[in-house]
Amino acid sequence: MSKLKAVILAAGAGTRMKSELPKVVHKILGKTMLDYVIESAMEAGADDICVVIGHEADTVKEAVSYDVEFVLQEDQLGTGHAVMQAKDFIGDEGNVLILFGDTPLISEDTLTKMVDYHIRHDNAATLLSTIVEDPTGYGRIIRDETHTFIKSIEHKDATDSEKMIREINSGMYCFDAKELNEALKTLTNDNAQGEYYLPDTLKSIMAKRLNVNAMISDRHEDILGVNSKVQLYQAGAIMQKRINFKLMENGVTIMNPSNTYISKDASIDTDTTIYPNNHIEGKTTIGKNCIIGPNCRIVNSDIGNNVNIDGSTVLESCIGAHTTVGPYAYIRPGSTIGNHAKIGDFVEVKNATIGDYTKASHLTYIGDADVGNHVNFGCGTVVVNYDGVNKNRTIIEDNAFIGCNTNLVSPVKVDKSAYTAAGSTITKDVPPYALGIGRARQTNIEEWVKRNR
Ligand code: UD1
Ligand code: CA
Repeated sequence: MSKLKAVILAAGAGTRMKSELPKVVHKILGKTMLDYVIESAMEAGADDICVVIGHEADTVKEAVSYDVEFVLQEDQLGTGHAVMQAKDFIGDEGNVLILFGDTPLISEDTLTKMVDYHIRHDNAATLLSTIVEDPTGYGRIIRDETHTFIKSIEHKDATDSEKMIREINSGMYCFDAKELNEALKTLTNDNAQGEYYLPDTLKSIMAKRLNVNAMISDRHEDILGVNSKVQLYQAGAIMQKRINFKLMENGVTIMNPSNTYISKDASIDTDTTIYPNNHIEGKTTIGKNCIIGPNCRIVNSDIGNNVNIDGSTVLESCIGAHTTVGPYAYIRPGSTIGNHAKIGDFVEVKNATIGDYTKASHLTYIGDADVGNHVNFGCGTVVVNYDGVNKNRTIIEDNAFIGCNTNLVSPVKVDKSAYTAAGSTITKDVPPYALGIGRARQTNIEEWVKRNR
């Protein structure tokens, strides 16, 4: 197959977003609109991608997660002018997709169909069109009686009868690279908007008697452009549905997909149940047979099989199989929780490793600690990891038992099978099998109440 490249236009300001951020870096489910378009282009087989930037160019550049080329369009003089800036990238070999950075719903599927259509019909240019209820504002596709493509005309340049046409130009194309570059040289800005229109390249390509065609797609959603925060939400709702339905088709139970927010990059295995109001972000993986109870936020984390997480936040951490988390647990970055462990209510774990079968059932802080297997944390344990200057590490070996309300002043080690007495402030290492007690002894003052009250 011949080489496929893509040029993505992203130089416009997007004033209707009413935002200081350039339009294409606004996010849907944690990913910028531009990254979605880049991904679809890559998935459809584009090896090289060039993004045309202009408005807030540096911000757009920094926001892109992929290795792409950038060209600058200093003044936004139209879609044709934008593509001209990429003429060296386009070159004279193979085919090139032209896409917009603000149509995040364009799918691999539609692009692949367009490329196949382009090749099958031996086209020099293929325009992606669709039929909509209200074509206002869009370029219209003009065809003759035999339904043959004649031209694409901009709304502002169209006659009243042309404005009645409901087949619209999506703005996306597949071009033969060499023919596109030659046609760009012929563009003028002699039109209602004084812009260099990309669709005008089709005229000069047709004048060479080369094949130009519009492929009608029935996936309207794919060409939906985002111009405002309302449209950002609308595109987001469609993206959310696509992601969630795909997961459901692959065997995940999602109770209410309109109330469940899962990143495109997350993967979830079969027979896992996702309750409503969960936010599963970034490159999170979740195993089989898990129950993700309501109200969880899980970010860039790996969750094993048979895990139950309820009403909790898990950030950049790993959770082993058969472990339960929550409700109201907070697992902060850099934590690794073992298998069959329990992290209960109001437990915070930060940058810590916690072994298999270890339990911290309630009201505990475990920060900067390495905890072994079968350790039990009594209620109210605090790992005192910060002395005001440095963060120190605490070590708790296998089978240790931490009594309720223990302070473990780091750096400190509780050795294997050792106990700490409830209410202790442990400042010295506790040897294996020892009981560490660090608290004042109780004194009872006889008859005190009678004398004082
Ligand atoms: C364009 C098409 C129209 C099509 C519509 C679909 C032209 C002349 N018209 O119109 O036929 O129906 O898209 O949405 O192509 N951009 C730049 N630099 C520029 C101008 C635009 O990078 O100088 C980018 C914008 O940031 C945007 C995209 O190109 O992402 C489309 O530009 P826009 O001005 O919205 O084109 P439309 O007038 O909507
Ligand atoms: Ca537009």
